[in-house]
Amino acid sequence: MILKSIVIILILNSLCEAYKILLVFPVPGRSHAILGEGYVRHLLNDGHEVTYITPITMKNSHPKLRQIDVSTNFELMPTDILFNIKSIINNELNYKDSKFLLYANSDFANSAINHPNVQRLIQDSSEHFDVVIAEWLYTELYAGFSSVFNCPLIWSSSMEPDSMVLDLIDEALNPAYNPHILSDKLPPFSFFDRVNELWILVDTKIFKWRLRHRENIMFNTAFESSVAKRGRKLPPFNEVRYNGSLVLGNSHIASGAAVHLPYNYVPIGGYHINEIIDPLPTNLQKIMDDAKNGLIYFSMGSMLKSRSIPMEIKRGLLTVFSKLNQSVLWKFEEELPDLPKNVHIVPWAPQLGILAHPNCKLFITHGGLLSILESLHFAVPVIGIPMYGDQHLNINRAVEKGFGKRVDLNSEIATQMDIAIKEILNEPRFVQKLKEYSLIFHDRLNPPGKVLSYWVSHVIRTKGAPHLRSPGMLVPWYQKLYLDLAFLILVTLYISFKVLIKVITVILSFRSGINRIKKKLL
Ligand SMILES: *[C@@H]1O[C@H](CO)[C@@H](O)[C@H](O)[C@H]1NC(C)=O
Ligand SMILES: *[C@@H]1O[C@H](CO)[C@@H](O)[C@H](O)[C@H]1NC(C)=O
Repeated sequence: MILKSIVIILILNSLCEAYKILLVFPVPGRSHAILGEGYVRHLLNDGHEVTYITPITMKNSHPKLRQIDVSTNFELMPTDILFNIKSIINNELNYKDSKFLLYANSDFANSAINHPNVQRLIQDSSEHFDVVIAEWLYTELYAGFSSVFNCPLIWSSSMEPDSMVLDLIDEALNPAYNPHILSDKLPPFSFFDRVNELWILVDTKIFKWRLRHRENIMFNTAFESSVAKRGRKLPPFNEVRYNGSLVLGNSHIASGAAVHLPYNYVPIGGYHINEIIDPLPTNLQKIMDDAKNGLIYFSMGSMLKSRSIPMEIKRGLLTVFSKLNQSVLWKFEEELPDLPKNVHIVPWAPQLGILAHPNCKLFITHGGLLSILESLHFAVPVIGIPMYGDQHLNINRAVEKGFGKRVDLNSEIATQMDIAIKEILNEPRFVQKLKEYSLIFHDRLNPPGKVLSYWVSHVIRTKGAPHLRSPGMLVPWYQKLYLDLAFLILVTLYISFKVLIKVITVILSFRSGINRIKKKLL
């Protein structure tokens, strides 16, 4: 028996080799760190050695985990200004504009790749990695790590697959029926929306192209010397950025749409949710257990600070909550005076533990994708107050699928919230739909963490998985659109037309010539 288990362990060990993996997740935001930590957890479980570049270091140490701290990156993110709810309500911040995100994120990335701790890592020519997994967020600068370590590159995308990320491994989605990630519209589109989607696709592409000099300089400055140290030459940024082997997407069909995906896009939405959920702190456990009529959990995530919500809106919401039979647990960073008996305020909330509790009946969220995936995982219906980024799209899809309601943040919010809460709690169709989509979310061949592990190893074992590469990557855009053919047809038509005109004038002038001669002769 013992011998048998030893043999089995030996076989398992030989099947899954331990690799050295570099995880690049420097985006200064809690939700991005949650995605990074998901990779750390699964890859350590598989026995790999993980080096993790992060602005939020993990407390639990592990002999095979090395963390590279880039927390000074937070200084670049003026959260109070960028995510100020008042400015969002007053439309002072244009979060629907990808151009702003493209510009700002290349700045964040530039500071991360030039961070002294990161430079120390890449300048050390004894360092070696089997694969680099980097978060893609509006910039491809992190691709340079794969050039330094001469190893394959895997992108991790935090959002539903959209044109910008698919363009890196295949091509953009057809804008006629695929909204861009910041869109507030779902297909079928009106004529105007369809044209607008096309315009945004083209406009974003042009803007990205205009950023190329700026990004080339950033790329070369950060990576040239460390590649030279290893006796190689840094390839051009424009080649490296399209050289990712795979995109692992934090997406799932249950929250997204059945879009056209290339072989090297693998959806692993839900991998960040640990099967073992930490027990709740005693005060929270008591609030949850005591909520006999059910509990509504309200959190606007970690970026938006509740204190930037205008006072009249806070008061209005509290009045609505005070009339409910349910308890309300509000993640909020400040004390509120005259708190109704059924409303509890916590500055920090262990979201998974709360959603997992059977008394949690409703989740009021900004609609970030992590929250939507968690609501599907734990089967809790949502009310979304979309604020920025992909939240509008996520919430609109939840509404379309029938397991969520949307409420907009404006002076009407309290009234709308009251209607939405009552509808979801009283009409069984929301919970019914949620159960259907939750089933879709869970009904998979393999859990997402396993899928993640498999594909990371597959890319390493197959030396960058060139067999998964879309043949479209070799074809220039004008050839894909057959613009060369269109040009040829236009030129041919033009020449034929010219020739025809020429022939007709010659014939006509020949005829009139003959006529003139005839007249003269007569
Ligand atoms: C592209 O990736 C492959 C596989 O990882 C690698 O061999 C090649 O050198 C890379 N090319 C560039 C230009 O980065
Ligand atoms: C609250 O509960 C009481 C007693 O169970 C019930 O009569 C009342 O209609 C409920 N109110 C709401 C708003 O659901």
